[in-house]
Amino acid sequence: MKVFVTGGAGFFGATLVASLLKKNYQVIIFDNFSNSSEEKISPLLAKGAKLVEGDITDYKSIENAMDDSDIAIHLAASINVEDSILNPEKTHNVNVDGSINVFRACVANKVRKIIVASSAAVYGEPENLPVSENSPTNPISPYGESKLNMEKYTQKFSQNNNLDCILLRFFNIYGAGQSDAYAGVITKFMKNISENKLLVIFGDGSNTRDFIAIEDVIDSIHNAISNLDGKRGTCYNIASGRHVSIKELAQLMLSISDKKLEIKYELPKKSDIHHSKANIDLAKKELDFHPKISLKEGLEKLLKLN
Ligand SMILES: NC(=O)c1ccc[n+]([C@@H]2O[C@H](COP(=O)([O-])OP(=O)(O)OC[C@H]3O[C@@H](n4cnc5c(N)ncnc54)[C@H](O)[C@@H]3O)[C@@H](O)[C@H]2O)c1
Repeated sequence: MKVFVTGGAGFFGATLVASLLKKNYQVIIFDNFSNSSEEKISPLLAKGAKLVEGDITDYKSIENAMDDSDIAIHLAASINVEDSILNPEKTHNVNVDGSINVFRACVANKVRKIIVASSAAVYGEPENLPVSENSPTNPISPYGESKLNMEKYTQKFSQNNNLDCILLRFFNIYGAGQSDAYAGVITKFMKNISENKLLVIFGDGSNTRDFIAIEDVIDSIHNAISNLDGKRGTCYNIASGRHVSIKELAQLMLSISDKKLEIKYELPKKSDIHHSKANIDLAKKELDFHPKISLKEGLEKLLKLN
């Protein structure tokens, strides 16, 4: 089977491509390296992944690159929430218009199976926890708005063209290989711990997040591949189903690393929601998705690697 992965050089894409190659899939990585590098994926290229450097906002280049792929996994996106506030049109251009190009190219190339990366950001500040797939969607950032918009186009394309399609709403993913530039809080804390610097928390540390290890996220993609038949843009929460406050997270990481570093509290960020916790029953039931790695276990592994 040939798999076309947009954003395949990114944090999550590169880990996914490695696992696809292990399962003997042929892989085409389509990426413009705006938040990654060719050097980083050279081990994947050495193992047989094909690279097409290109931008999803350029329709023709995707149409040509997709070739005779059997399945498209669409991960490429402009992911920086703060940047989306400063440059909403750029985020929209990549995440909505670029995604439409990917779907059009799938139709043109008769690629009838698509898995698309969405985000918990579509929910905004939840009214009730945990959030399930039919909870209200009220994104607070242009990034979240762009993902919600993308979801709607995905569903229309899937329904109008009979494409088997699944949307995965990822919560906070952590793991090795996340780029420094737009790193999540775990990557930032890890860097400071390794450099013996204080940890900075925006707000009072009571905000909560549902963190999921990259290895469990990769499993969710394989489960989605196995369960695509007949789906027309169904959304699934992909998360651990547990939440932890940012203060507890900092304390846990300091205790695992056995370091006594100061925690500094700064003004909260406007684009930060307060609480996040997913209900993952639908993914458990329909995708057979069962996250295996506890936060403590995942952090211990990550801090050991560092
Ligand atoms: N990391 C998380 O916690 C998280 C959470 C929710 C959703 N997601 C979603 O998962 C997907 C992957 O996220 P990630 O964390 O690996 O991000 P990432 O930035 O590491 O990876 C995205 C990749 O897409 C590429 N890219 C960006 N714009 C492009 C364009 N116009 N054309 C071609 N390639 C382009 C980047 O160079 C990068 O390699 C994204 O769609 C993101 O919105 C991630």
